[in-house]
Amino acid sequence: MTLDIMPTEATLGAIVHGVDLNQLDNAKFEKIEEAWHQFGVLIFPAQYLSDEAHIAFTCRFGQLEQNIRRRRSTGVSNISNVQSDGNVAPLSSVQARFLVGNTYWHSDSSYKRVGAKASILAAHVVPDTGGETEWADMRAAYDILDDEMKDWLNDKIAIHDYAFSHAPFGGKEILNKEELSYLRPVEHPIVREHPATGRKNLFVGRHASHILGEDLENSRKLLSDLTAQGAQPPRTYKHKWVVGDIVIWDNRCILHRGHRWPHEQPRTMVRTTVAGDDP
Ligand code: OGA
Ligand code: MN
Repeated sequence: MTLDIMPTEATLGAIVHGVDLNQLDNAKFEKIEEAWHQFGVLIFPAQYLSDEAHIAFTCRFGQLEQNIRRRRSTGVSNISNVQSDGNVAPLSSVQARFLVGNTYWHSDSSYKRVGAKASILAAHVVPDTGGETEWADMRAAYDILDDEMKDWLNDKIAIHDYAFSHAPFGGKEILNKEELSYLRPVEHPIVREHPATGRKNLFVGRHASHILGEDLENSRKLLSDLTAQGAQPPRTYKHKWVVGDIVIWDNRCILHRGHRWPHEQPRTMVRTTVAGDDP
């Protein structure tokens, strides 16, 4: 099999064929990693990885991120509306509300001191309609800013805060007191340089509450405007999942969001996270 990396028509994303991720040799891995740095999101159709193989693929990119819910974690997270009793979670449940939070643009774990490097999401059960995932290229979103805005943002720090972004979505009910105590507000520069490519990007999204030292309401509005304006075509790509697909994205420069689906239909995704590097 020869590796076939087909870019999408957006500024980010490529579809990858010609590889079995169960048997990934170093030569192919290096090409995949290089393409990942270039495109930010790689979609691998029809891989059907077991959780073990999913974790093994994840570890090629770095260490697994420690889950806040440490004691309950196996290394993979189920992003699912199916309850442990097999029934679909009612819309009013914390489980379903938490998933609604995922429908706003975000970078995984940006509410932690060290955000996530990569997320790797695989489709196990998909709804008939809806339930897509969409990514936004925040490198290209930075590029379109005018010079005045680029200069102004250059030394600005955003406060990312789990309590702020999860309050409407049951996030505080999912974690216990001790777990919540690890999630104090953290600071991240708004303009960041990608460690592998040197490209600048806008690091914003739903966990970013406001800008340090600026008016709370005005800076909150600016952050949400920057996200909304950045996440527009041709800087977005939306994937309609098929069971067996697996996708890796770069949380350091790409935002993502889920799309809703008929809530009575089950949807189960399996996710791993590659830990970021301590800045
Ligand atoms: C995630 C996420 C969106 C989706 O798993 O981090 O945001 O479409 N998922 O399930
Ligand atoms: Mn996410």
